[in-house]
Amino acid sequence: MSQLKQMSHLDNIPSTPGKFKMEKRLRWHSSLAKLTFWSFVFLGLIFIFFFLSPSSSSLPSDPSRRSLRTYSWGGPAWEKRVRSSAKVRARNGISVLVTGAAGFVGTHVSAALKRRGDGVVGLDNFNDYYDPSLKRARQALLERTGVFIVEGDINDSELLRKLFEVVAFTHVMHLAAQAGVRYAMENPSSYVHSNIAGLVNLLEVCKSANPQPAIVWASSSSVYGLNTKVPFSERDRTDQPASLYAATKKAGEEIAHTYNHIYGLSLTGLRFFTVYGPWGRPDMAYFFFTKDILKGKSIRIFEAPNHGTVARDFTYIDDIVKGCVAALDTAEKSTGSGGKKKGPAQLRVFNLGNTSPVPVTDLVSILERLLKVKAKRTMMKMPRNGDVQFTHANISLAQRELGYKPTTDLQTGLKKFVRWYIKYYSAGEKSAQ
Ligand SMILES: NC(=O)c1ccc[n+]([C@@H]2O[C@H](COP(=O)([O-])OP(=O)(O)OC[C@H]3O[C@@H](n4cnc5c(N)ncnc54)[C@H](O)[C@@H]3O)[C@@H](O)[C@H]2O)c1
Repeated sequence: MSQLKQMSHLDNIPSTPGKFKMEKRLRWHSSLAKLTFWSFVFLGLIFIFFFLSPSSSSLPSDPSRRSLRTYSWGGPAWEKRVRSSAKVRARNGISVLVTGAAGFVGTHVSAALKRRGDGVVGLDNFNDYYDPSLKRARQALLERTGVFIVEGDINDSELLRKLFEVVAFTHVMHLAAQAGVRYAMENPSSYVHSNIAGLVNLLEVCKSANPQPAIVWASSSSVYGLNTKVPFSERDRTDQPASLYAATKKAGEEIAHTYNHIYGLSLTGLRFFTVYGPWGRPDMAYFFFTKDILKGKSIRIFEAPNHGTVARDFTYIDDIVKGCVAALDTAEKSTGSGGKKKGPAQLRVFNLGNTSPVPVTDLVSILERLLKVKAKRTMMKMPRNGDVQFTHANISLAQRELGYKPTTDLQTGLKKFVRWYIKYYSAGEKSAQ
């Protein structure tokens, strides 16, 4: 108030100071001093408020960290939703916490588990690595099937402990991660946050849970890095990653080994090979090629040195889901309790691929036929920013132990993707970002 008064007084000062009487001048000086004093006090208070505020001190630059502090959870109504979503309806059903449930693979796996009568609770931080409205649409889809996605971060141990207090999950399907190889050069800390710190935090809570759940989690084919021997087998070396993403997945496999060894957690890592399909990820080539071809924009296709072919073992989402569900069904119980190991526990790693790599140029030709639009192709030398020349899975181990058998070829799978894409983006005039 006093500040406002000073302002109105200042407003009355004549614009010609030479006409001032002495007394008026002194009053003016003292008013100016007061105004300066109060301005400093006011600015000081603002500064102290921001400096001491806990949220500002943890204001991080990456999206996954930002979301750690913005979610509210807890309370009787929230617990009721969690319990109802976790309710097992099938005889011999399991109760699963699915992290990354609003993600591409997480949505499909959650829906499949729910369909067969398992209890499913999702967890996702809805970060904006890619268009969050797509994650919200997947959430709405799951909600209709009775799956509740808790909004929160896997680094929030209090939230995770609360979830295990409300539901004695028998299994965790851990899919939350910072995906994508090229983005690691832009935002490396998001990979450390979700793929390393988040994984450790989740395993810490799981090891202390009583009973301990069995954990199935997503590693990646990228751990094979610069290997040239094909097809990639689980026995091959995985110590030459080509991206920070791959390095964090490899670190995850070592961390899994530690928690299995010390605490008796049952852990199964799945090395997915380029998963594609409806509700897919907009940062992946098949997705943004579709978008750009439809817009008439030119697309950049990478080629290896000496015009070498870049190829991927594209794996259709339904095949991956079958592999995930089989891994959950064959996972043995963890052996520890109360944070202590009681005996040896299961530790597994499986390739989940399609076993038939397809050159990226062929992927584009299939899309051209399905979209009935000719692509404007620009061939480019593959930059050294995380991509590898080819991937090719040997899946005999998964075949033997999980009964895994992919059945969808790229032509059939892309047809389903394109049908979904056109329907999704033409409804309500949504545009792919
Ligand atoms: N899609 C593929 O081709 C592929 C290939 C190899 C491995 N993977 C792995 O499979 C898993 C699922 O991949 P996707 O394609 O569904 O990716 P996605 O990005 O669509 O799904 C991941 C989800 O996790 C959430 N998330 C990220 N960090 C989180 C955190 N700290 N706390 C809570 N939620 C968080 C994201 O919001 C997202 O919804 C990931 O671990 C990924 O690394 C995928």
